[in-house]
Amino acid sequence: MDNSCRKLIFNIYIGFYCSAIILPQMCICSYFSTPSIDQFNKDAGTFPVATNGQPFPWHELRLPTVVTPLHYDLFVHPNLTSLDFVASEKIEVLVRDATQFIILHSTDLEITNATLQSEEDVRYRKPGKKLTVLSYPAHQQIALLVPEKLMADLRYYVTIDFQAKLADGFEGFYKSTYRTLGGETRTIAVTDFEPTQARMAFPCFDEPLFKASFSIKIRRESRHIALSNMPKVKTIELEGGLLEDHFETTVKMSTYLVAYIVCDFNSVSGTSSSGVKVSVYASPDKWSQTHYALEASLKLLDFYENYFDINYPLPKLDLVAIPDFESGAMENWGLITYRETSLLFDPKTSSVSDKLWVTKVVAHELAHQWFGNLVTMEWWNDIWLNEGFATYMELISANATYPELELGACILNMLKDFLSEEKFQKGIINYLKKFSYGNAKNDDLWSSLSNSCLEGDFTSGGFCYSDSKTTSNTLAFLEENMEVKEMMTTWTLQKGIPLVVVKQEGRSLRLQQERFLSGVFKEDPEWRALQERYLWHIPLTYSTSSSDAIHRHILKSKTDTLDLPEKTSWVKFNVDSNGYYIVHYEGHGWDQLITQLNQNHTLLRPKDRIGLIHDAFQLVSAGRLTLDKALDLTRYLQHETNIPALLKGLEYLETFYHMMDRRNISDVTENLKHYFLRYFKPVIDTQSWSDEGSVWDRMLRSVLLKLACYLNHAPCIRKATQLFSQWMESGGKLNIPTDVLKIVYSVGAQTTAGWNYLLKQYELSVSGAEKNKILYALSTSKHEEKLMKLIELGMEGKVIKTQDLAALLHAIARNPEGQQLAWNFVRENWTELLKKFGLGSFPMRMIISGTTAHFSSKDELQEVKLFFEFLKAQGSHLDVFQIVLETISKNIKWLEKNLPTLRTWLLASI
Ligand code: BES
Ligand code: ZN
Repeated sequence: MDNSCRKLIFNIYIGFYCSAIILPQMCICSYFSTPSIDQFNKDAGTFPVATNGQPFPWHELRLPTVVTPLHYDLFVHPNLTSLDFVASEKIEVLVRDATQFIILHSTDLEITNATLQSEEDVRYRKPGKKLTVLSYPAHQQIALLVPEKLMADLRYYVTIDFQAKLADGFEGFYKSTYRTLGGETRTIAVTDFEPTQARMAFPCFDEPLFKASFSIKIRRESRHIALSNMPKVKTIELEGGLLEDHFETTVKMSTYLVAYIVCDFNSVSGTSSSGVKVSVYASPDKWSQTHYALEASLKLLDFYENYFDINYPLPKLDLVAIPDFESGAMENWGLITYRETSLLFDPKTSSVSDKLWVTKVVAHELAHQWFGNLVTMEWWNDIWLNEGFATYMELISANATYPELELGACILNMLKDFLSEEKFQKGIINYLKKFSYGNAKNDDLWSSLSNSCLEGDFTSGGFCYSDSKTTSNTLAFLEENMEVKEMMTTWTLQKGIPLVVVKQEGRSLRLQQERFLSGVFKEDPEWRALQERYLWHIPLTYSTSSSDAIHRHILKSKTDTLDLPEKTSWVKFNVDSNGYYIVHYEGHGWDQLITQLNQNHTLLRPKDRIGLIHDAFQLVSAGRLTLDKALDLTRYLQHETNIPALLKGLEYLETFYHMMDRRNISDVTENLKHYFLRYFKPVIDTQSWSDEGSVWDRMLRSVLLKLACYLNHAPCIRKATQLFSQWMESGGKLNIPTDVLKIVYSVGAQTTAGWNYLLKQYELSVSGAEKNKILYALSTSKHEEKLMKLIELGMEGKVIKTQDLAALLHAIARNPEGQQLAWNFVRENWTELLKKFGLGSFPMRMIISGTTAHFSSKDELQEVKLFFEFLKAQGSHLDVFQIVLETISKNIKWLEKNLPTLRTWLLASI
């Protein structure tokens, strides 16, 4: 519903997905040794039992590699009235070793016939031999037993006829519905396969390593269109008026990237510089919201083709806004699917942050077309690289195409800074070229990056030796080529983030590295054990009060010492926040930096000022810096003109306010409110209620006015109320500036008339951006019965779609009046929620953490613990339980330690 929710979805899967869904499989796999195929015959008793009672000839989760797919001919005919589909496929396979069975994936598909042909059979058009199909649902596998052994090094053709219902949820081949402006409900059919749901749509070798080409045919009614990864070659008219679209054969690709859609959408199209036809599709009433995504995707496609030095290999690229979509977007090759709010931009109701979000998601999924699609991870344990890289490219590409944004940092950014931009890019290009249409693992990327020769470099024995090394700062590390892999391993194999403790003693800097632990203090008994064996190779950068130059040093040991050429009043590490580590300045370090910020903050770079605010508050949560010191550091913000720095400071103040408000600690909330309104008054009062200015001006306006109205600042409430009344009087026709729209709706939602009116408009609106704003506003009501009504509508899934239920519960839980209600609801309706979303799904994780992770009292912790124990006793277990319990414990600890300090600091400051 807002960016923090969206970020949450993403963080949840980046953080939890690998360990919850993927790692268990990995672990299980590694415990099994690969049996030889003949073992089946000798040792059938040890194999699992298929649904028909016969032994199933394979017991591993991973498929055998004896038979590999080369090509799929896939025919699908969905019926959007009876909501099911019939389909058939012919898979060309290569047999590597003689075998009597073929194992592949299939989930909930009714297989009506399976036959096998040899190449000769095909050549002479001989009918296929019937195959026996065994099914082992626990592993989502089927076994095709052949009458005669398949011979090594020969190709065979497996034909399978099958049918199923269009799925109810958001996975496999599923149905999605939307309402037209005229009030009609229409159905479309769409696929979503990552990571392992292609097997719900067609029997296949559903692992990323089994790349093959696909020729897809889709039968449809004439009122619909069909889309797939490739452009259509032809349409055949069938008796009875049905049409059949034949699509061009794809390049070699993994099954999770296959996609097809049958819908009645409209599109806008354009052509990239290299001649790729790019189209953006949406339901007919939303067609007018597609133009921004087209502009952005054309720009970004050009950017990536240049950056990667590899043309996008398909003739077309479609981006489609799907009315029911579980996550944010999915990078299917040539047919990217998006949640409507991740793709559509409505000039009347989409704010600047909505636009930024669309830009980011488009950039992310486009980056996957190379990183992920062209080169794919060998196995899901390296998915973080796919996702981490696409996230990193969001920043690189957005900075290149929208330079005013100057977005943030991550591990890959640190590596780029370490290697130099040029070398980093060259390494990426080498990697993509080397592994195109194939698979790679982590290590392959690090090798390419550490061995990327620039022009003029001297190559010997496969390594680069550059003359520039001795002179260039960025390349001034000996044996750097060998070091990258070693260094990156310390970042990818260890969990967490390092803390660098700096102590200045005259001209000497004493350095020490630790594992940064939020919520665990150095004096806690568990601290030492949590530190053990953690060591990073940290490419440090620093500047000093006497030199703006960027100095570099790799910290590889626990402790180290650096000598400065002269005595300086302060040192600032992690220049431009390019590194992925937190820095603590012991002794007078922080005081000296605070003094500098107050005297003349512009002597520190803007990104360094942001970094200092960030690190200071992180150190408070680790018990290394007192809260008053971190708050003192933010005092300079009254002179700050750099908006991202201002927003960073505001973000922390706002967090504290919400924490106090939720716990009803009224003296502190009151004082924080007075502090904020007084301290930021000059900047609040100069905000206009418009959409004018740069991206950052507009972001600041949204954040400041939202907070001011939330704190009941009279002029803010007055203006918002006035705009809301005008909007209601105009029958919802008045255009309110988009950046303040959410604020105006939220103020309006506080009266019953306003709330009811908003709910009506919610039903009518065809703008996802507007609907999100209205739903957020509705969720801020102080009336429990209204909040309950929203939850009921979300459970029903008609007015409020099921895809929005998790964000709704999260929003209600953030409202102090709704937090108990949301939490009770989740506990009491757990089974119902589980029926809608799988246990490990994004929404379920969001529901669990969204309704609990803000708790900060011992009683609440106890309640949550009890509930999780109850779930575990029922056999439901998720890693997110542990994460939530740790977060609540941290909140409790933070309050215990910092509440008195906050109280005193505020009294002295207002
Ligand atoms: N490929 C992912 C979605 C995904 C990841 C699906 C893992 C299943 C398993 C996609 O590229 C993605 O990252 N989507 C994000 C949006 C993105 C802009 C952060 C999402 O859906 O949250
Ligand atoms: Zn992604």
